[in-house]
Amino acid sequence: MTSTKDQKTLSTAQVHSLQREAPFDLSTYLAERQAQVEAALDSSLPLTYPEKIYESMRYSLLAGGKRLRPILCLATCELAGGTIEMAMPTACALEMIHTMSLIHDDLPAMDNDDYRRGKLTNHKVYGEDIAILAGDGLLAYAFEYVAKETKGVPAEQVLQVIARLGRAVGAAGLVGGQVVDLECEGKLDTSLETLNFIHTHKTGALLEACVVCGAVLAGAEAADLQRLSRYAQNIGLAFQIVDDILDITATQEELGKTAGKDVQAQKATYPRLWGLEQSQRQAQQLVDEAKAELASFEERAIPLMAIADFITNRTH
Ligand code: FPP
Ligand code: MG
Repeated sequence: MTSTKDQKTLSTAQVHSLQREAPFDLSTYLAERQAQVEAALDSSLPLTYPEKIYESMRYSLLAGGKRLRPILCLATCELAGGTIEMAMPTACALEMIHTMSLIHDDLPAMDNDDYRRGKLTNHKVYGEDIAILAGDGLLAYAFEYVAKETKGVPAEQVLQVIARLGRAVGAAGLVGGQVVDLECEGKLDTSLETLNFIHTHKTGALLEACVVCGAVLAGAEAADLQRLSRYAQNIGLAFQIVDDILDITATQEELGKTAGKDVQAQKATYPRLWGLEQSQRQAQQLVDEAKAELASFEERAIPLMAIADFITNRTH
């Protein structure tokens, strides 16, 4: 039997060889992280007075989902030598921001959707007034939560995270992308350049913040932040291309939201510009480029590599 003392004396090479013997399993990894994020989200937002608004915020925040954004943030923090605990408040904040953007995106003034994550949308359950306020509440709380709950990280790094989150959400990010998306509705002649603008801002900016903020919290150096940023930009675009493909090929049950909405709303999409096959090829190329950015991180990049592959292989 190996004693604890013997285990402690394993060399780095031996540890790496053991890791190779037990191959990385993405679904186990994602399930484990998802459960941690779920528990952290649940305790981040207690139900208190006025219950109506907290209920509505919790309804959407705890409606399930892949939790890909928080998981990316935790993964890059670990890759850069930090811990899950250091990144969890930011991971939760990223999910709060993502959730608020979906609540507002589903409103009658925007996409007017009835279903999200397999459940009725927030405004369908609580009314438009409360849904708008729930989004506002989640957005504000996300920033408060990072500032108050991040422990064991130098204040300057926390400040940098807050600045990056603000930029990713505002007119330079999500909001800007959504504005151009709304402008282009019904315009089938939208150019590739405009389509790329929409998605690098509407989806890419927040994904990039997830990846980069995790590493910032761990104190990563600038060159590594740049590599991770390029990884994120590539998977962000690939993610959107696959989203567009799934809107055509997947069912409402698989998606948990209305399928075929893009065609119905006459939205400019990648499959409309390129066709399904070329869209699939482009997504794959972006994922390959994303993975190439991670080469210098060696074994530490295994989860991020697997997540990149998962993006093109997912069915919902
Ligand atoms: C879903 O896109 C929508 C988004 C990714 C973001 C939308 C952004 C806003 C509503 C701005 C929110 C305001 C702030 C302050 C951040 P989609 O409609 O293409 O996808 P879907 O099919 O999942 O609805
Ligand atoms: Mg929408």
